[in-house]
Amino acid sequence: MERELALEIVRVTELAALASAKWMGRGDKNSADGAATSAMRAMFDSVSIKGTVVIGEGEMDEAPMLYIGEQVGNLEGLEVDVAVDPLEGTELVAKGLNNALAVIAIAQKGNLLHAPDMYMQKLAVGPQLAGKVSIDDPLEITIQKAAQYLNKNISDLTVMILDRPRHESHIHTLRNIGVRIRFISDGDVAGAIACAFPESGIDLYIGAGGAPEGVLAAAALRCLDGELQGRLLPATPEEFRRCVEMGIEDPKKVLTMQDMVGGDDVIFAATGVTPGEFLKGVRYFPGDRAETHSIVMRAKTKTVRFIKTLHYLPNKPLLQAIQE
Ligand code: FBP
Repeated sequence: MERELALEIVRVTELAALASAKWMGRGDKNSADGAATSAMRAMFDSVSIKGTVVIGEGEMDEAPMLYIGEQVGNLEGLEVDVAVDPLEGTELVAKGLNNALAVIAIAQKGNLLHAPDMYMQKLAVGPQLAGKVSIDDPLEITIQKAAQYLNKNISDLTVMILDRPRHESHIHTLRNIGVRIRFISDGDVAGAIACAFPESGIDLYIGAGGAPEGVLAAAALRCLDGELQGRLLPATPEEFRRCVEMGIEDPKKVLTMQDMVGGDDVIFAATGVTPGEFLKGVRYFPGDRAETHSIVMRAKTKTVRFIKTLHYLPNKPLLQAIQE
C-alpha cells in the first residue's frame, strides 16, 4: 500500500473525532456516534482507494452508512478491506470519560477478518510478551509467564479488563493471585493497544469484548509488534451460523494475528475523541481552532507517527454540514 494513504486515512479519523467530540458529556451516545459516522463517511470520498467496508456500523439493512459491504473511497485506487469504528466508546463520549477513539484499519483486499458482531475473548500484550503467552493457558499460568518474561513481581503486574459481570471469575482469579487491575467501563481497542505502550503501565489486556474491536486492536498491535489472540464467543446457534457464513469455519478456534490481519501490511489510524492512555482528546481553542491528536502506523515499515493537528474549523465544510 502507498505510504501516502496513511496520511489520507488520518484526515478521516480526525474529522470523525472533531464531529463526535462536540457531544462529549451530553448524555447522547447515538448523536455522538451518528456525527462521527457521517463525518467519516463523507471524508472517505476523498481517499484514493477502492475500499470495501468489512467491519463497520452493521449490516446493510441496519446501518445507513459505513455498513458491511459498502464501497468507500474515490473508487480509483487500490482494492482494500476497510475496518472502521467511527466512534469506539460511544458511552465514553456521552459521559465525558477517557479513551474514546475514532478508528480505521486498512489492508489489501481479503486480509482483514470479517468479524461478526458478537463477543470475542481476548488476550493482548505488548512486544515483550508477544509469542510468549497463550489464550489457551489458565489465567494463573499467563500471569506467571508474564511476570517471568517482564522480569516483574506478580504484585507489580497490571492487567486491564472491562468492568463487566461476565468477568467475575477472571477478576476473582486476578485478585487471588495478587496482580493489580485497571478496570475500564468501555473502549477495549484503546485498552488492548495500551499494552504496547510501556508508559501506559498496562502489561496485559484480558476479557471478552466486541469481536470487530478485536480485529481493529489486532491491526494496531501488528504495527507495534504486540499480539492479540482471540476466540469468538457465539452465544446462540444463530450467532454460530453467522460465523460460518462469514467464512469462519470453526468459530471456537483461537484466532491468531495472521487470522485477523493477514498479508504483509496494514495501516492503522486513530484520533482521540476524549483523553486516553496514549492520545489526547479533542480540545477547542479561541479563534475557531481545535486540536486533535492521532496515531497512524504501518505494519510493513513499523513507522509509528503521532500527529498533532491544529484545525481551523470554518474551513471544514464537511464538518459544518454535519453540525447544521
Ligand atoms: P461502542 O463504541 O459500540 O459503544 O462499544 C464500546 C465497547 O466498550 C467496546 O470497546 C467493547 O469491545 C464493547 O463495547 C464491549 O461490549 P459490552 O458493552 O456489551 O460489554
